[in-house]
Amino acid sequence: VHRALVIVAAGSGTRLGHGIPKAAVTLGVGSILEHACQAVTPELGFELIVLVLPEQSSHHEVLSAPATALAHRTGSQVVITSGGAARTDSVRAGSQAVQKHAELQGWDGPVHVLVHDAARALTPPEVFSRVLQALADGAEAVTPAVPVTDTIKQVQSEGSAERVERTLPRSALRAVQTPQGFTLQFLERAFAHIEQLPTERASQLTDEAMIAEDLNTEVRVVPGHPHALKITTETDLITARALLAEQAR
Ligand code: C5P
Repeated sequence: VHRALVIVAAGSGTRLGHGIPKAAVTLGVGSILEHACQAVTPELGFELIVLVLPEQSSHHEVLSAPATALAHRTGSQVVITSGGAARTDSVRAGSQAVQKHAELQGWDGPVHVLVHDAARALTPPEVFSRVLQALADGAEAVTPAVPVTDTIKQVQSEGSAERVERTLPRSALRAVQTPQGFTLQFLERAFAHIEQLPTERASQLTDEAMIAEDLNTEVRVVPGHPHALKITTETDLITARALLAEQAR
């Protein structure tokens, strides 16, 4: 079995509103992407790590900075590739880079690919291990997840007004995180599948686990971690900075 990791960091960071790509925003010492890379320990055994960065960005230097240290620290080959307009496009670009590398290196046997959001910068290595273990146990698609603490209601919009339609049973709900894990074979199938969907439907499939559901491929769930929150808003950034400060004490 060969192991590869794709870190997607090609988002614009519009919702965070810093005017720079989110992965380049500073979190304690270093960028969000740099922190995401720090979770990748040599023990995880990745032969290849693909960093997917914005296609054109004046922050390319900051974003590509962690690559050398990451290769040095993990012994993995680290490559940088350009992402696309939507997260799925960025994951596809990363997945194609893995495919190309596997061909060039003559990898045979299964390839296990973890797809991770740079924005989940504080995800601990143990979550990566759990996902890899589930793949080793035979799963084709794996996602870490945590129980939800909020009561989630489905609403219906009537013009600008919204009303509650129903309450979803909380005990059966999970908030999914990354890294999600897949066999390379599944990812190839997944991207072939969304290519032939109408654009509107394809754009609704925001992660590869959703494509798996669409293909009736079982998605295994393993425990995630509260620190694996996705840094999306200023509140998330404050939380992440506080977690880091706490860890440094
Ligand atoms: O936008 P959101 O926070 O959901 O993005 C999740 C992850 O996907 C982030 O790490 C972001 O950089 C990445 N992404 C990407 N390419 C895009 C959009 C998002 O690599 N076009």
